[in-house]
This record gives sequence, structure tokens and C-alpha cells, in this order.
Amino acid sequence: MSVLERMTSQDAIALENKYGAQNYHPLPVVLSRGEGVYVWDVEGKKYYDFLSAYSAVNQGHCHPRIISALKEQAENLTLTSRAFYNDMLGKYEKYITEYFGFDRVLPMNTGAEAVETAIKIARKWGYEKKGIPANQAKIVVCQNNFHGRTITIISASNDPIATENFGPFTPGIVSIRYNDINALQEALKDPNVAAFLVEPIQGEAGVYVPDENYIREAHELCREKNVLFISDEVQTGIARTGRLLASCGTCSCTDRLCSDTPDVKPDMLILGKALSGGVLPVSAVLANNTIMEVIRPGNHGSTFGGNPLACAVAIAALEVVRDEDLAENAFVLGELFRSEMEKLVGESDLVRLVRGKGLLNAIVINDSEDSSTAWDICMALKENGLLAKPTHGNIIRFAPPLVMTEEQMLDCISIIKRTLKAFKK
Ligand SMILES: Cc1ncc(COP(=O)(O)O)c(C=O)c1O
Repeated sequence: MSVLERMTSQDAIALENKYGAQNYHPLPVVLSRGEGVYVWDVEGKKYYDFLSAYSAVNQGHCHPRIISALKEQAENLTLTSRAFYNDMLGKYEKYITEYFGFDRVLPMNTGAEAVETAIKIARKWGYEKKGIPANQAKIVVCQNNFHGRTITIISASNDPIATENFGPFTPGIVSIRYNDINALQEALKDPNVAAFLVEPIQGEAGVYVPDENYIREAHELCREKNVLFISDEVQTGIARTGRLLASCGTCSCTDRLCSDTPDVKPDMLILGKALSGGVLPVSAVLANNTIMEVIRPGNHGSTFGGNPLACAVAIAALEVVRDEDLAENAFVLGELFRSEMEKLVGESDLVRLVRGKGLLNAIVINDSEDSSTAWDICMALKENGLLAKPTHGNIIRFAPPLVMTEEQMLDCISIIKRTLKAFKK
């Protein structure tokens, strides 16, 4: 069959099942078009996207401004590698560093690559600036984290599905409980700790929002112990949680687009996903000179990292976030969503609780973690025109594009309520 022929959902699923590695378990819906908060399947059925490609499509599907930047740049220059300079990289580097308030950026592609990059920088900083003895550097991480899928990153994971039969693992990683400041204090007694790597909200784990002071106190402890505080905002960043950055939401300032947060500003900030509005893999590590200067030519890189196409797309994606006030919209719609879901918790035995910030939310289904209820509810939501996916057993993550209007959100809330009320196990 030619790939250009129109296919049914069944055909497309059969092809993936036959020829693709089976490393995902998608909901059985085959999408062929997206615009704003909507996606359409190959049969033409329209859905609300309530996942946003795991928070990559914050700006909405195929945002015209981002697509126009993509097309324009694609006609001029797409890739030079870093063997040569190009006329977009410096422009992008200036733009993104000023946007987030750091001296320098190291551009990469996927989120996992950016995390890996931050770990490498932290180790090198540990040896060259902190004086940790050779090969003794440690990185402290949190249980139930999700930072990606490389060997080093899964070495920091305690998820058996992510780790089983992938050893041997990278040494030098210490795992502590999330949201446990005493555990961090204990771990930081070790003078060989170079960095603490943390998600300000644990997204994949099921949208766990830590106690209000956790991030600030953790940041302060790191400062006291000369340990780098690395914030992985690949999922929480870029307006998703109702602030430009989720860690900003823990400081006292009220400006939703402010990145000048001295009391919680990470030593290294990791971004990905929405940095391109879901158009290309674009990720970044941001840091100030005293940290980034440990990286010298030949130490690290990527053929595609910082390519001109990615730079043009990322500038447009960040402009959209600012010009369309997406952080404010995420904040307002997030409050509305949670207050309506709270009512549902009161009215339905099926939903145990709702939690989240901005438009990164989850509901916990009142059933065992190994039950299929959350999956079955997502199937019923799909029938009713809304796409969401369980994350870990009985938890359903709700993360629509941030360009959603109040009217669309009310429509989605009514779909969710109707589906849950009619749902029979
Ligand atoms: C917090 C966090 N870090 C890193 C990653 C990895 O990003 P990628 O899938 O682009 O490698 C993810 C992906 O979900 C994430 O949520």
C-alpha cells in the first residue's frame, strides 16, 4: 500500500503494529490533522486534544505564526551543523537567554538530551569548580521522577518498566523521596554531590505538586551546600502551569511572565517540548557564565542542536507565549477546570481527587492502580470527542493546549462530566 493513499484508522494501526517497535501503547485513534485545540482523525472525527503531546503543543496545533516561521526559514537554510556559524543561532541565543534571564544557552533537540547535557555540565562543574575528587561526583534525584529515556537518565529512575533488563546503569546517582526536604538535607551532607535534579511538579508520575515551600527550600539548601539546583521544566515550563516557569510560581512575585526569581532561580534550567510549540524537537539548557564556562569546544554537542530551523521556530514559539498571554490563560482556565472537577469529586464515586497547577492537572480514579478503569474512561472520553491518556494506572492527566478559550474549556468540562457520570465499570 502506498503511504500516500488515504487509510482507515484500522489500516494505520495495523501498519504500526506490524512494522514499528512496540514501545508505546497508544489510545486507538489515528490523527491526521490539528489546529489550535482540535485534532481530527483519518475518518474526519474532531476531538479536543487534552494532552497536547505531553505538554509540547502549548501554543496549539500548527500555530500559524510558528508554521510561518518554519516555512520561511525552511526555504533559506535548515542545517549547517556547528562546524560553521549560521545567522539564526546567535539571534536565538540572545532571545532565549534574555527571555529566561540567563547568561548562556546550550541548544539540544529532545528533552532527554537536555537533561543528559545538564548532568554532564554539573559533573564537570563539580570537578573543576567545586573540587570534587575525580569520578566521585554525585547527582541527587527524586523517586518517581521522569527525565527521559537514555541509560544515564533511567539510571535515576525507580520505575521497573523503564529500567528492567537495561543495566548496567550509570553510577553516581542518589535517589531521595520527592517533596521531603529532610531527605535532601541528609543527601547534601555528602560533599561529593554536584547537583540536585528535580521537576518542580512531577508530571509523568501523575502530576504531583509538592508542598508550597519545597522548591524554595530545596533551592536554598543547594545554595548553602554549593550544590547546583537543576530544574527540569521540560513538561512544566513555558506557561503550562500558569507561570512562565513552574518554579516561578513558588516565588513571591505575581508577574506571570517573570523569570527574574532570585529566590528560586535554578542554576540550570532545562526546557524542551513547548520550546518549539510541538513543531520540531528543540530543547535547551540555560545557565550563567560561572557554570556554562566549564564547557569548551569538543566537550559536548549535537549535529542538529541549534540548527537555524529550530532557532526560527523556537523564537516564534516563545513570542506566541508572550504575545498571547498564555501563562495568564493557563492560570485562569486551570482555576476554572479544578473548581469544576472538585464538584465532580463531590458528586461521583469514580473520581477520588483532582490536583495540578495551571493547565497541568490530573484526576485520580477511585480504583486500584492496576485496574483498567482509567484507560476505559479515556476510551469513553474519546468516543465523546476528547483525547486524554492515563499516566500510571489510575491517574488521568489533563493538559490541553494553552490557547483554549473559556467557552471551549466549559465544553470540555461538560464532556468530562457527562462521560464520567455515564461511565459503568
Ligand atoms: C520532566 C521531563 N523531562 C524530560 C522529558 C524527556 O523529554 P523527551 O521525551 O523530549 O526526551 C520529559 C518527557 O516527558 C519530561 O516530562
